[in-house]
Amino acid sequence: MWCSYRYRLFILCGVCLLTTSALPPPPPPHDVLHTTSTPSEQFSNHEILDDNGIFELFWKYNETHITFEAHVQTLGYVGLGLSAHGKMFPADVVVGWVKDGKTYFTDRHTIGHYEPIIDQSQDWFLIFGKEENDKTILKFVRKILLCDSEDISIEDGTTKIIYAWNSEDPIHETGLSYHGTNRGARNLLLLSPSQHRHLPPDAKHFDFLNKQFHLPARMTTYHCTSFKLPDIGGKNHMVMFEPILQKGNEGVVHHILVYHCPPSKQYDDKFINMEYECYEHAPRELNECRAIMLAWAVGGGPFYFPDDVGMPVGESTDSGVFVLETHYNNPTHLSDVVDSSGLRMYFTPTLRKYDGDIMQTGVAVDPLQMIPPGYASFLSTGYCGVDCTNKAFKDHPEGVKVFGIFPHSHLLGEAVRSRIIRNGVETVIADDENYDFDYQESRLLTEEVVIKPGDIIETECRYKSDDKSTVTLGGLSTNEEMCLVFLMYYPRVDIGQCSSLPIYDMYLKNRPSNENVGNMIKELGKMDWTNKTVQEQFSQATQQSRHFYTCIGKEGYSSYQRTEGPPPTISKKYVPKDVCSKKVLIG
Ligand SMILES: *[C@@H]1O[C@H](CO)[C@@H](O)[C@H](O)[C@H]1NC(C)=O
Ligand SMILES: *[C@@H]1O[C@H](CO)[C@@H](O)[C@H](O)[C@H]1NC(C)=O
Repeated sequence: MWCSYRYRLFILCGVCLLTTSALPPPPPPHDVLHTTSTPSEQFSNHEILDDNGIFELFWKYNETHITFEAHVQTLGYVGLGLSAHGKMFPADVVVGWVKDGKTYFTDRHTIGHYEPIIDQSQDWFLIFGKEENDKTILKFVRKILLCDSEDISIEDGTTKIIYAWNSEDPIHETGLSYHGTNRGARNLLLLSPSQHRHLPPDAKHFDFLNKQFHLPARMTTYHCTSFKLPDIGGKNHMVMFEPILQKGNEGVVHHILVYHCPPSKQYDDKFINMEYECYEHAPRELNECRAIMLAWAVGGGPFYFPDDVGMPVGESTDSGVFVLETHYNNPTHLSDVVDSSGLRMYFTPTLRKYDGDIMQTGVAVDPLQMIPPGYASFLSTGYCGVDCTNKAFKDHPEGVKVFGIFPHSHLLGEAVRSRIIRNGVETVIADDENYDFDYQESRLLTEEVVIKPGDIIETECRYKSDDKSTVTLGGLSTNEEMCLVFLMYYPRVDIGQCSSLPIYDMYLKNRPSNENVGNMIKELGKMDWTNKTVQEQFSQATQQSRHFYTCIGKEGYSSYQRTEGPPPTISKKYVPKDVCSKKVLIG
């Protein structure tokens, strides 16, 4: 996805296809979650954990505490827990049930894949429990940070939740009957506000779908299709988008993006409804469509913009041409997959207060992002430099406001961090220390974060490569790596992508070329990555390397700028809040 420089080449993604039929009225969005229970008070967050709608969880949080209310269709016991890996062990769990009008509730932890034992210190507290309409309802509260050896602290970003129920009440505090298949694990963004899942009544939709694309029998395919938005009567606000995944193909559709082509360009009809292989075979006219408009990846759901923000579409000054890019991941080389998956966007003529937009930040996708094997923790960092934020935000000295983010890395990614460096001081936009490749969800920030002209936007990914035997390079395939964060912000300015890339000037005496980068990769392949000194030296070289900084506006090639310079100096590092118990319950 997310094109970039390969070596010193400027590669752009894109494709374009068509459609000018009249727009149908919107079908109901695919996953409007229907609340089946009424909670005891208003909760900011709500999810149904299992596929059959049996385990419903409401929660809310403040700076220090998180309050849950579980509504579960059972008159037996209910279990809920936090787990580092989504497995029953190791996990911090609570178990509760209501029997003869009395509620039993205990804070426990697991010491194996069997009945959790009761903690010495009880740190999850029951507020009330009852049985009602064949459901067990438990409301309880705990601190977000817990610092004893039997509990897990809750961090920003992805949290793995495990849940279970049984139709029987236990006879004693111990001796729970086995829950059998009444259990599951879910990734939740516990400390991000729930999206307001609401569509305006006048919303219409437009689909960016693949057209029965016959997937080649190879690992990685980036398929592109171009579209022209029909006349929708002038400026509208896009307020929601959702994936439309063809049934049966969920396993091969890795990510889907929609790029906006340069607004002021005129596109010949032949560029509309074109299908091609992205990057290598893209026509130049469509290859410069690089401003991200919609981004979805495996595990994600629909995304609803906040009530006061919409992304402009249909403006008379706009080319209205878009490119749908689908990354298919086909490791078993299936040859009989035909796919019409894509994204659906909903838009409304009732304009909201702010024009919002999305910008891509991070490490440019390129083999110069190098992750040697053997590391328990290797950091790659990309920057959106001062020149770019000065230029892009020049009309907004007070800054633009980031309200949501979409982090993206591949299989080695364990953490994705988005930060700001202002006058040398580093602050956080959002960190996900538990990034999960299989759960790539756009997330709203609890508080908007301001980015000002002259700020540096820093994207850092932590990778774990200790079960690899070869160097992993940045690239498009799932087995290569990426380190990207899409920032959703308002008001809209002219910026599409802003990233950087270490150029390893200490290794590559001349500027990077296919040949000397190839040689460097070969050299790295011969080094002893089990040697900590070797590891440490390369980490330092990565962090101290000069960078190529790129800044691309919405007008494609003509808005593209590249500079070279040292990495930014950070005089005051951001110190994450102390998640003291983190190490304890990791098995
Ligand atoms: C946060 O929530 C907890 C639990 O409801 C409550 O006791 C505490 O007073 C709240 N803190 C603030 C600052 O509102
Ligand atoms: C590890 O690498 C360093 C630097 O190349 C070298 O000096 C040292 O001898 C190596 N240690 C071992 C145990 O091979």
